[in-house]
Amino acid sequence: MKSNTNSCCSHQTEFDLVQVKGTWTRQTERCRAEQGKLSDAKIYENKSDHGVSWTVVSPIVFTYKVIQCKDILDPRNDTLLWGHIGDEETKGTLTDSEPVKRFVIMDETVHRLYGSQVAQYFEAREVVHRILPLPTTEENKRMELVTKILEEVHEFCIDRRSEPIIAIGGGVCLDVVGLAASLYRRRTPYIRVPTTLLSYVDASVGAKTGVNFAGGKNKLGSYVPPVATFLDCSFFQTLPIRQISNGLAEMLKMALMKHRGLFQLLEADGRKLLHAKLQSCRTSNSSELEDSATASIRIAIETLLEELAPNLWEDDLDRLVDFGHLISPELEMRVLPELLHGEAVNIDMSFMVYLAHQKGLLTGAEKERIIQCMLGLELPVWHQDCTLDLVRKSLKQRLKHSAGSLRMPLPTGLGSAEIFHDVIEDCVLCQAYQKWTDELSSSGNK
Ligand SMILES: NC(=O)c1ccc[n+]([C@@H]2O[C@H](COP(=O)([O-])OP(=O)(O)OC[C@H]3O[C@@H](n4cnc5c(N)ncnc54)[C@H](O)[C@@H]3O)[C@@H](O)[C@H]2O)c1
Repeated sequence: MKSNTNSCCSHQTEFDLVQVKGTWTRQTERCRAEQGKLSDAKIYENKSDHGVSWTVVSPIVFTYKVIQCKDILDPRNDTLLWGHIGDEETKGTLTDSEPVKRFVIMDETVHRLYGSQVAQYFEAREVVHRILPLPTTEENKRMELVTKILEEVHEFCIDRRSEPIIAIGGGVCLDVVGLAASLYRRRTPYIRVPTTLLSYVDASVGAKTGVNFAGGKNKLGSYVPPVATFLDCSFFQTLPIRQISNGLAEMLKMALMKHRGLFQLLEADGRKLLHAKLQSCRTSNSSELEDSATASIRIAIETLLEELAPNLWEDDLDRLVDFGHLISPELEMRVLPELLHGEAVNIDMSFMVYLAHQKGLLTGAEKERIIQCMLGLELPVWHQDCTLDLVRKSLKQRLKHSAGSLRMPLPTGLGSAEIFHDVIEDCVLCQAYQKWTDELSSSGNK
């Protein structure tokens, strides 16, 4: 029996949980009576003069797949229907249990462009389906959309275990559907099919869902990953160039924080990648080497997964991926719908680059290269509504929500960064802000 005595009158015992013939019982390690299924969970019992208390420690494991594929809407391609299931045996059982049903939510614009292909896919596969197109814009990213989805899902009647809800659209659609799925019958599996570059390299890869609330960005949400994300970059072909720039901002974030090679790639080929809409330029005759579109997307996803997987629920507040997300939420909401998410993130990153320079973390040449790279990606680097007051207010908020420490990720070179905990001196902030405004306010940006 593991026990310790915290004070003269309290006593703690650690229990394992063992299941024999369907019944779980508490057993101490030393007095394990029966063999059975051992849970990862533990119960700690504490007896004191005041009575008994129990502390439950129950590790929850999430498993999700991020799968790149081609021609996802080709009826010969299994991915959309069965890609979330790894093992062939289960797939076989589910395929045999007719009829297969799927509830699909699509962004309205995406529906206009791809709705008939999606319908043809399910018809060809003889799947009972309902496609719900919704106006999933940032202004509409509210609980009303979640409720609408829940009502329709309920009416359609899906099997919560075997019939995942499918979301096809940009980050707004994926976030809203994710929240609805995490609420429906407490947690219903869902699948993400991102159709914008931003949602492909960012919103799809992690566990977060959300809607805006009380004027705050993503103020309501959950940490529930999809069962799978299916990535098909051919959707980018119908995106306006501005939306591609928008996604490149999140890729640049990962480059600046932790991958010099990705930065060099975006610096050298950024404009070309942007106007080719990140479509792979490899032909069947080309060498085995990855082209820059494929390589930059792969690195952006790998580096993000490395940061997210060990901290899926953001328990650790020291997060490199918060770079560009300290002042941008306030700015984005203030000027809605003027700036896209990635544009607001880029303006935040641009200011932070000046701050890093002011703190002596970046050389003048490095600062210049980063700003030139941003301009090459056709991203805004300054905005008149990103005032010094807004910066101060956002950092104050950050301090309040980050357990009393600023936890500010800042670049310390091209492709390296550190998290800074100390409050930034106001004079350093003011000087950085002044230089940022003097040098970039007339850069042809908003
Ligand atoms: N959950 C997360 O971890 C996470 C991470 C990053 C961003 N986000 C969220 O993602 C949202 C931004 O996502 P977004 O940039 O994809 O915006 P979005 O969902 O608003 O889509 C952008 C626009 O592109 C259109 N569109 C989508 N796919 C298209 C296609 N293939 N062809 C033509 N038009 C298409 C949409 O109709 C929309 O007008 C924000 O709300 C942000 O908070 C979430």
